[in-house]
Amino acid sequence: MPQDGGAPTQGHRQGERRQRATPVRGAPGADDRLVGFLALDGIRWTRGVCSLGVLIGRPEVWGRGCGSAAIQVPLAFAFDELNLHRVELAVFSYIQRAIAMYERLGSRVEGTRRERLHRDGHRHDMHLYGLLRREWDELAGARPTAG
Ligand SMILES: CC(C)(COP(=O)(O)OP(=O)(O)OC[C@H]1O[C@@H](n2cnc3c(N)ncnc32)[C@H](O)[C@@H]1OP(=O)(O)O)[C@@H](O)C(=O)NCCC(=O)NCCS
Repeated sequence: MPQDGGAPTQGHRQGERRQRATPVRGAPGADDRLVGFLALDGIRWTRGVCSLGVLIGRPEVWGRGCGSAAIQVPLAFAFDELNLHRVELAVFSYIQRAIAMYERLGSRVEGTRRERLHRDGHRHDMHLYGLLRREWDELAGARPTAG
């Protein structure tokens, strides 16, 4: 929940529904408020795969590098600590910030669930992204950092 007494956004509520979601606090150049959630789940140890979700629930924080900085924490944990081979992410086609963020991190589209979401009278595709450990390693040193 917001730490400053503000009303919870849809993003905060979605984050709370995800079990074991990790809060993201603070934003580059801002204070230490709760701004979103990260969730690394669905680990399949025998296959070395997991799923990752990220949500920054405060629109005033979007586009300031917070998501790009935060998502590197669970990615580093998945590859470097848990020794997993691939991380899977899903994003709806209208969320351009997430698509830019995932692709800059080196993940690639592996498939599309067409018209998977109905929102505000429109249908949107869901893109399925995957990031392999070697792709993560290749981009070491070239990743975005918090500004
Ligand atoms: C998607 C989300 C996690 C990204 O976090 P963020 O802190 O806003 O993103 P960043 O500031 O790190 O920027 C990510 C990229 O989007 C780009 N971007 C910023 N504003 C943009 C815009 N209006 N349109 C397209 N791309 C944009 C940035 O330039 C950056 O790309 P770059 O690193 O190649 O320059 C966050 O915006 C969010 O949670 N949004 C709402 C909830 C949501 O849609 N979650 C679903 C995630 S699947």
